[in-house]
Amino acid sequence: MARKATTKKPSDKKNYELFNRNTQAFIYNMQVNATQRMLDFDYAAGREKTSVAAIVNPTGGESLQKFFFGPKEVLIPVYKSLKKAADKHKNVDVMISFASFRSAAQSAREAFEIPQLRTIVLIAEGVPERQMRLINAQAKKLGKVIIGPATVGGVKAGAFKIGNTGGTIENIIESKLHRSGSVGFVSKSGGLSNEAYNIISRNTDGLYEGIAIGGDRYPGSTLLDHLLRYEQDPNVKMLVCLGEVGGTDEYEVVEALETKKITKPLVMWVTGTCSKAFKTEVQFGHAGAKADAETETADAKNAALKKAGAIVPNSFDDYAEKIDKTFNKLVKQKVITPAPEVEAPAIPLDLNKALSAGIVRKPASFISTISDDRGEELMYGHMSISEVFKKDIGVGGVLSILWFKKLLPSYATKFIDMVIMVTADHGPAVSGAHNTIVAARAGKDLISSLVSGLLCIGPRFGGALDGAAQQFSDAFDKELTPQEFVNSMKQKGVNIQGIGHRIKSIHNPDMRVIIIKNYVKKHFKTTALLDYALEVEKLTTSKRDNLILNVDGIIGICFVDLLRSEFIKEEADEYIQMGALNGLFVLGRSIGFMGHYLDQKRLKQGLYRHPWDDIAYLME
Ligand code: ACO
Ligand code: LMR
Repeated sequence: MARKATTKKPSDKKNYELFNRNTQAFIYNMQVNATQRMLDFDYAAGREKTSVAAIVNPTGGESLQKFFFGPKEVLIPVYKSLKKAADKHKNVDVMISFASFRSAAQSAREAFEIPQLRTIVLIAEGVPERQMRLINAQAKKLGKVIIGPATVGGVKAGAFKIGNTGGTIENIIESKLHRSGSVGFVSKSGGLSNEAYNIISRNTDGLYEGIAIGGDRYPGSTLLDHLLRYEQDPNVKMLVCLGEVGGTDEYEVVEALETKKITKPLVMWVTGTCSKAFKTEVQFGHAGAKADAETETADAKNAALKKAGAIVPNSFDDYAEKIDKTFNKLVKQKVITPAPEVEAPAIPLDLNKALSAGIVRKPASFISTISDDRGEELMYGHMSISEVFKKDIGVGGVLSILWFKKLLPSYATKFIDMVIMVTADHGPAVSGAHNTIVAARAGKDLISSLVSGLLCIGPRFGGALDGAAQQFSDAFDKELTPQEFVNSMKQKGVNIQGIGHRIKSIHNPDMRVIIIKNYVKKHFKTTALLDYALEVEKLTTSKRDNLILNVDGIIGICFVDLLRSEFIKEEADEYIQMGALNGLFVLGRSIGFMGHYLDQKRLKQGLYRHPWDDIAYLME
């Protein structure tokens, strides 16, 4: 159950308190993942508002960035400057700078200019030592707290998490960081901090706050700085610390123990004892992790700490045991009342992460079985675009793959090429071309003029391919004689699709039809339906010269013969019922309509207005 956030304002913070459940931060540099991890922590900790107030992105534009806050989405503003962010969000007193080692010091200096910013976290590794020493001196003078550089940050359990501290949200909940415990922890190493949080969660009632000060030689704040904060904080009942070979920070802790500045039980271990196994001094991962003198060795420090009263294990192996024993002793002494377990709310998984991990599956919104652009090469069906050209399959081949999902034999792909060629245009007088021309002359663009022409395609003009294929194949399959077919259509009062032409006739044959007919008769595997249609044409032209098999008819009917040669009948008939064939006329005639558009533009033709004398005004 989410606990109510305190109403404390930053200024209400005690001087030992850096973070609470109300704390909000600026993220310096566009760090989407780190920001989302902080918001996931916020949700798990039951915070009512996000711990990130804004992102400062000096190299980018201002915007609103979407993030998840639990299952909901929230918008986080992005500003170009820290000053503008501070002007807009006066309650923010923490800045987490992800600036690189080149500009980390600069980002700290910008923060120094903003009084409300009290805690500055520098994540970058490799910040020049001289720059850090100047930054640390200035921060001290201004009373600001620096955490870092070269750190992952830290966490106030159940209240505020810096950046990527603690790793995944699953680990954070596993380490009970979503709710407050009794242990104050500080180390140099971010990685060892996460390990320590885990050890603390398993051997005590959990972490209260953990800080990784970073492994550089001149950290902005020291192990002792944070241990003294915990010493003052009544919520912290025991201290745990991990020191490191190299440097002398740990002797400040020795002195604090000796002078009773630290009185709370302190379990502490200095890592790097293995260095004695090497003949020469060893430089460990952190810049500061190298003993330049005997006193800087891990063994010397552990011995000094033990002598001063710290609880020092014999090795890292029994570090957990010491923590456990110390915690239970404090519970027995009633110094600690173990914090209750708090069930963390379920954090929804990011869909993309869950999908790539195979944890969830979702039905695709779209299905495509004809092409795939995801790989190295565009695929038409199973053929790569380079193969398309290597095998020279032509437009007909590409159409056969993309429309009919297989590369048809060359006689068929050649036929498709011919269909596109013969339907490409039939002069400016046909209805579709007329509309395209009128639209072009009205100043419309190419696509609008093309569409204007295409909208004329229908049962009387260019849109009879499917009708012809359906009517003729239906009659043929029902074994109607051509005469029975013609009579039945007459009785229904329905024009036979694919028959008739406004200007072509048996005395003025359509060469396009002849070209197609001759090719089909020569190359097709069967011409059963064409032969049937030619018998029908004999009957219709005996009635009227212009009732010829027209270009729509010849193409639609021959395509039935083609489909029934290359597919099983059910599949062929499905394409006929689907209405695929009118697409051939649309494809072809688009070439001509666009030609007419370009022609009109080239001719700079003005607005077309139909002449009055060509309109019969029959007003009553
Ligand atoms: N089937 C049967 N009878 C027809 C057909 C036909 N396809 N077409 C015309 N007729 C008859 C009409 O019923 C009418 O008979 P009626 O005088 O006894 O009433 C007579 O012929 C004249 O009809 P109209 O529509 O005036 O003839 P028109 O020459 O204008 O028709 C058209 C041309 C529109 C193409 C017509 O033949 C038709 O609708 N055909 C079917 C659709 C078709 O195939 N369109 C594609 C044309 S090609 C292309 O666009 C690329
Ligand atoms: C065409 O292809 O547009 C024609 O067959 C129709 C026509 O009227 O010429």
